[in-house]
Amino acid sequence: MKFSSKFVAATVASLVYVASPVSAAIHKVMECGDKSYTYNSMVGWGMVPGAAVDKYGDTISFGSSMSIERPSIKRTLSASGSYIYTATVYNLPDRGWNTNGTTNFAPRIYAYNITFEPLPNGSVAPNLNWTLVDTILLTDPFGNTLTGFDSDTTLSFEGFPVLPAATFESNGWSDTAGGQNSSVRVCLDAETLNVIDGSIKNGFWITDEYGPYLYKFNRYGMLVSAIRPPEAFIPYRNGEVSFSADSPRLNSGEDDDVDPADPDSGRANNQGFEGASLSPSGNYIFSLLQSATIQDGGSKKTTNRYTRLLKHAVGSHTLAGEWVVPLPQYTDPDQKKNPRTAAQSEIYALSEEQFLIIARDSNHGHGQSDSTSIYRNIDVFDITNATDISGISEYNVEGGAVAPSGVLDDAITPATYCTFLNVNLNSQLKKFGPHAGLHNGGNQDSTLLNEKWEGLTMIPADGKDGSDGIFYAIVVTDDDFMTQWGHVNYGRITYKDTSGYDLINMGLVYQITLPTSLKPFGIYQAGN
Ligand SMILES: *[C@@H]1O[C@H](CO)[C@@H](O)[C@H](O)[C@H]1NC(C)=O
Ligand SMILES: *[C@@H]1O[C@H](CO)[C@@H](O)[C@H](O)[C@H]1NC(C)=O
Ligand SMILES: *[C@@H]1O[C@H](CO)[C@@H](O)[C@H](O)[C@H]1NC(C)=O
Ligand SMILES: *[C@@H]1O[C@H](CO)[C@@H](O)[C@H](O)[C@H]1NC(C)=O
Ligand SMILES: *[C@@H]1O[C@H](CO)[C@@H](O)[C@H](O)[C@H]1NC(C)=O
Ligand SMILES: *[C@@H]1O[C@H](CO)[C@@H](O)[C@H](O)[C@H]1NC(C)=O
Repeated sequence: MKFSSKFVAATVASLVYVASPVSAAIHKVMECGDKSYTYNSMVGWGMVPGAAVDKYGDTISFGSSMSIERPSIKRTLSASGSYIYTATVYNLPDRGWNTNGTTNFAPRIYAYNITFEPLPNGSVAPNLNWTLVDTILLTDPFGNTLTGFDSDTTLSFEGFPVLPAATFESNGWSDTAGGQNSSVRVCLDAETLNVIDGSIKNGFWITDEYGPYLYKFNRYGMLVSAIRPPEAFIPYRNGEVSFSADSPRLNSGEDDDVDPADPDSGRANNQGFEGASLSPSGNYIFSLLQSATIQDGGSKKTTNRYTRLLKHAVGSHTLAGEWVVPLPQYTDPDQKKNPRTAAQSEIYALSEEQFLIIARDSNHGHGQSDSTSIYRNIDVFDITNATDISGISEYNVEGGAVAPSGVLDDAITPATYCTFLNVNLNSQLKKFGPHAGLHNGGNQDSTLLNEKWEGLTMIPADGKDGSDGIFYAIVVTDDDFMTQWGHVNYGRITYKDTSGYDLINMGLVYQITLPTSLKPFGIYQAGN
């Protein structure tokens, strides 16, 4: 059966259920603009224990972002006749264990080898397996490691914009092994990772939340350049740039480390570039704020849905486009004020106009007071019809608003946002994992989904370029380093997360079919 025939069924409704020509029942066909996206089935899961440590002896939290080494992707046929995929992937931790305050975590990336066997009918044992290969520490241009501490100062390097930085005494932990000298280091709250042109050998981009900035590193983890977004994105307090995210340090005993706590304009605290993706051509990097800037309603969950997408040329660093993306909203039974914004945690450019996006609620899941998440999706947005506001200075200067108090300027057409794949669906989840399977809601146990789904990458099902449109989308969680067997400061200090919880690093896999007109792998193909 050819694929086109099943789309005949999808006439008026955007949601139809039809039999599958692929490997499992098609769960959902979604229309967005003139394009169809198909959610076939959940096909896998895997995990790395929360107590696992990296090459430096520090606790691993692998899911703030994920990027795949395309030449490493291999598809082989197993003895039982099913396909097995192997690849090397790079995973990004957040700013370190910070549930009790920010720390002098040295930002880094992890390299893993993964092995994956699609199992549409479910599996008790994990079928997405992870082997740690390497840990790469990130450094400034002089080779100094960076820090996860909140910003209290800045640093200047020739050829760079002024960078957010943090001051600390000794080695930045409570012990005195490093002597009494104070240090100033570039601080990074890392949220996205993209290897360049499909391979680590070309280096990688990371975006952060303090700046919010875009940082380019070489293959060894050394910072080589940075992009500062328009002034409308830069946090200002009392008329001055202030990169603090109001995230006090571990054991500081403070509720706020800056006054006022929220910036007067620019990115909201801890709502920086949570999503970023290189274009399929590799010529552009797109970055998306987690939610609206302060001047666009960013200080409240009920008004912060109009966030902004930037497009920069990676060679010249020039701004090549800017659009408004309307984030989805949901009703949270645990909150008085609704509807609330499902802020975004990652994007994946399928072209220069269509994107996958992870949008989710917060404070629900494993380790949270409530286990039932209401909104955790891989959705699609499309900027074909959206207004490019990059050339309009009133929107881009300090405090420039597109949606004052959360009401969008009617001169602006936002991106088209389409609801696609619900990660919380228990009918799919329960096919995987031990006992009663993975689940959203219910008991606080190891098979309960974590709160924060933040990393997304794809393997083409054909093991080459995905020209048939079929991909395996892998999503991973940031577990906030919440473990009772924690290690920090190069393994020298142990900790127990104050919550008492021990989370795992979780990954889920979905088979999806994308419009064949999109070529998300661009010219950078898989290995074979
Ligand atoms: C863009 O607008 C055209 C004309 O109204 C419409 O047919 C198309 O579906 C729209 N595309 C998106 C992605 O909204
Ligand atoms: C999975 O289930 C489908 C029916 O939904 C069936 O056709 C197929 O043979 C099953 N595959 C395996 C490997 O059990
Ligand atoms: C993954 O590991 C499990 C054991 O935990 C094993 O049963 C399974 O076959 C492995 N799958 C792959 C694809 O490596
Ligand atoms: C990771 O995979 C590569 C390519 O298959 C292989 O050469 C390497 O030995 C693997 N490393 C580990 C630690 O498994
Ligand atoms: C402080 O730094 C200076 C210069 O690098 C060094 O000579 C000195 O030993 C350091 N002091 C301590 C207490 O670490
Ligand atoms: C968390 O912070 C509180 C207050 O500063 C402190 O009493 C507690 O020991 C800290 N917990 C951990 C695990 O460091």
